[in-house]
Amino acid sequence: LRLKKCPQELVAPVDPKLIKQAVLNLMLNAVQAMPGGGELMLCLSRNGTEDALIDVIDTGPGIPPDAAERIFQAYYSTKRGGTGLGLPMAKRIADEHGGSLSVKSEPGKGSDFTLRLPLN
Ligand SMILES: Nc1ncnc2c1ncn2[C@@H]1O[C@H](COP(=O)(O)OP(=O)(O)OP(=O)(O)O)[C@@H](O)[C@H]1O
Ligand SMILES: [Mg+2]
Repeated sequence: LRLKKCPQELVAPVDPKLIKQAVLNLMLNAVQAMPGGGELMLCLSRNGTEDALIDVIDTGPGIPPDAAERIFQAYYSTKRGGTGLGLPMAKRIADEHGGSLSVKSEPGKGSDFTLRLPLN
């Protein structure tokens, strides 16, 4: 696990419990995507003066392009016993804060989920 913190002050008006839940959902997915081990990186940064960015990055198998649209839909899961609600919940939490949740993924290399939260 690598933690990369933002050098500047990063203060966003958020509901800490909800953000904790969203980041937890992303981190659980990252761990589950690397059953044989790998690197999980949590990276905090800011996008100019507008947004705080929390990136949860893994070195798992990535997400096939045809699935990338579906992973944020409720009940889409490729896991035995998965509810398919972890990402929709995280996305909803981001939306409710006026932010967003997006993913960049390169099949075979890993995934980078970005939680964007307005700074004010
Ligand atoms: N980091 C990731 N790497 C690869 N695939 C992922 C990753 N995160 C999510 N996915 C894909 O998106 C699907 C939906 O994720 P989501 O968190 O919504 O549900 P889940 O993890 O399957 O179930 P639950 O969150 O209830 O345990 C997963 O089943 C998986 O196919
Ligand atoms: Mg999940």
